[in-house]
Amino acid sequence: MIDVAFLGADVRPAATAVVIDVLRASSTITLALASGYERVLIAGDIDAARALGAPGRVLAGEVNCARAPGFDLGNSPEETLEPRAPELVLATTNGAPAILAAAAAADEVLVASLLNFAAVCERLAGAEDVLLVCAGTDGRASIEDVYLAGRLSAALDGPRTDAAQIAEFVATAYPSARDALEASAGAVGLRREGLESDLAFCAQESIVEVVPRLSEARERIAVLTAAESGRPTAVGPGLQHES
Ligand code: MLT
Repeated sequence: MIDVAFLGADVRPAATAVVIDVLRASSTITLALASGYERVLIAGDIDAARALGAPGRVLAGEVNCARAPGFDLGNSPEETLEPRAPELVLATTNGAPAILAAAAAADEVLVASLLNFAAVCERLAGAEDVLLVCAGTDGRASIEDVYLAGRLSAALDGPRTDAAQIAEFVATAYPSARDALEASAGAVGLRREGLESDLAFCAQESIVEVVPRLSEARERIAVLTAAESGRPTAVGPGLQHES
């Protein structure tokens, strides 16, 4: 069964949970691992991320879309293109809590963005119990996450819940991914912070082969590493990942 949770808080047990926060946590995590970070450590909040600070780690995170005070990076995917250390610690408002909730409920947790759309579809082929988890924006369902959930649902085989069919209808309402992102509340926050270039970046489809996968879950920390889609090619200059 393919199902959709419209908010991270709606996570339920599933064989495979796929967490979606197109703007921008899941895009940043995907690109960080594709760029060469070995691990992304998801922290429950900014203070928890700060406590994880150590040599060999880069601190990234946002508060209201802006870089958290004292952090090395914000939450723009492009900031991770040049890895500065083996590990990226990331705390974000909605995406990080959704990943932690999925880690507590599902047997397997993957992270999807438009950047790795084809690789995620490949990875999910044949999966029978898939929950597509939309992180949402500030506790509300978000267009861009439901859009991607609908695109993924439509690309997979098998029966769908009503929620999955609703997401598919939403996806058909937008001529392009960029249109869906531009229409979202998340875009408003990014424009406010002068980060609108992230909209174009996060709207790119299938430019990397990496699928972030939960490898370890500790108290309020989820460790993500790169799983490959199984397809032979990697796309995008400088984005090849050594597995
Ligand atoms: C989140 O987790 O709420 C988002 O990734 C926010 C953002 O765009 O930085």
